[in-house]
Amino acid sequence: MKATAVAHSNIALIKYWGKLDKRLRLPMNNSISMALSDLKTKTTVEFSTGYSKDGIVIDGKKMEGRGKERIIKHLDRIRNLANVNLCAKVVSKNNFPADAGLASSASGFAALTLAGTRAVGLDLSKKELSILARLGSGSACRSIHGGFVEWKMGSSHKNSYAEQLAPADYFDLRDIVAIVGKEKKEVSSTAGHARVETSPFYQARLAALHKDLSDVRTGIKEKDIEKLGNAVERDCISMHTTMMTSEPAIFYWSPKTLEIIHKVQECREEGLKAYFTIDAGPNVHILTLPQNIKEIREMLKEIGVEDIIYNKPAGGFRITKNHLF
Ligand code: PMV
Repeated sequence: MKATAVAHSNIALIKYWGKLDKRLRLPMNNSISMALSDLKTKTTVEFSTGYSKDGIVIDGKKMEGRGKERIIKHLDRIRNLANVNLCAKVVSKNNFPADAGLASSASGFAALTLAGTRAVGLDLSKKELSILARLGSGSACRSIHGGFVEWKMGSSHKNSYAEQLAPADYFDLRDIVAIVGKEKKEVSSTAGHARVETSPFYQARLAALHKDLSDVRTGIKEKDIEKLGNAVERDCISMHTTMMTSEPAIFYWSPKTLEIIHKVQECREEGLKAYFTIDAGPNVHILTLPQNIKEIREMLKEIGVEDIIYNKPAGGFRITKNHLF
């Protein structure tokens, strides 16, 4: 009863921010993402009579407290589905800093869902896996699929899940992540989602989403980075405005974040295809095309950003035989 899965993180092109239902993690809007090749989580789950309690180790650290409880809750969902009553050992490894706005919960809960269900002998469909992963972390429901993905908000537990819009090899969009902070964020995304409606700008954000979603879908379909990039930037700014105007206010950006935003705008004026987006953290994702990577790397080096992750669109999550223990 042991299985190992690998899942990729994703960058939200249109963000999920705000929940219709907290317990079921139903979102207030559809969101669209791209799976990221170089940000991934590998997780091994084993259920056994040999364990007297659940044990969880992430990146070499034994988990305690709230983080552990959240994972045990997810194991309970899997145990209930399979009618299994055994304790589990979970070992998980990220190839990037967790909790710094690089979507470790997305790849983490996607990998846990696949490894956990396979370990108990379930063979769920992608739709079922997406629904189950969503209960662990909203954005995880998108990390089931590779390439470009849309999470349809739905109206109930059964119809809120993600579907693939286009596979990884359809559009060679690149995502360069400028790492400007690796610290654990002060306000978790769960806490952030919960205060979204205190922002007077939240309704305006929801009203603007329809067009931005449509532009991103068209941008992917027509491989039009300009159409996609402009909508992605509008949506990112609108989400962060909502965050900054929540009560209490949340500022995920650092001065370096803003410096990079300006530099990306300058790059564009010079004719490069470059667009920024930022999740719940200070790190900046720069969307670009393969021919502009070199110039963007140089721009980042010039302003002292050395820690950079280069992503292509990734495939979906998968099972591997290379267990972590
Ligand atoms: O899935 P959560 O609760 O970590 O929320 C993700 C929130 C954002 O990363 C800011 C946006 C998104 O859609 O991924």
